[in-house]
Amino acid sequence: MNELAFTNQPFNTTKEDTLVTNKQMENKAVEKPIIKIRGLNVKTKEGEILKNINLDIPKNKIIVLLGPSGCGKTTLLKSLNRLTDLHKELKVSGEVFIDGVDILKASQELPVMRQKMGLFSATDVNI
Ligand SMILES: Nc1ncnc2c1ncn2[C@@H]1O[C@H](COP(=O)(O)OP(=O)(O)O)[C@@H](O)[C@H]1O
Ligand SMILES: [Mg+2]
Repeated sequence: MNELAFTNQPFNTTKEDTLVTNKQMENKAVEKPIIKIRGLNVKTKEGEILKNINLDIPKNKIIVLLGPSGCGKTTLLKSLNRLTDLHKELKVSGEVFIDGVDILKASQELPVMRQKMGLFSATDVNI
């Protein structure tokens, strides 16, 4: 997960702000993040997939999640609408606030939350 890089400025970027690391993102004052991830860990019996992820995602911005195959991008996205629940071998801890609500809390209305948090998987398109 260390190799993941985040950027919230895909357009009109300067050299300085093109790549924002996890730590820098945490320190950066982001106005009213719509998604707040705090201390997110995803583990299996074999080991850690995501370790202590802290990330603010601002509203109405395009965010790029970049990293090599197997570094945890899909697992992070699955954590954002609790698709990780479908994999019983995954142990998820930490906090994921969507619009101020921690969706990892057991009391969450999953269907309502998932309607809000769309997730499209990559597919090949033949045209
Ligand atoms: N359900 C699972 N059980 C065990 N290991 C998993 C599971 N899902 C993902 N992993 C492992 O976690 C790592 C990150 O996977 P993934 O999130 O799919 O990476 P990416 O999307 O960046 O290619 C990989 O090593 C993968 O094998
Ligand atoms: Mg993937």
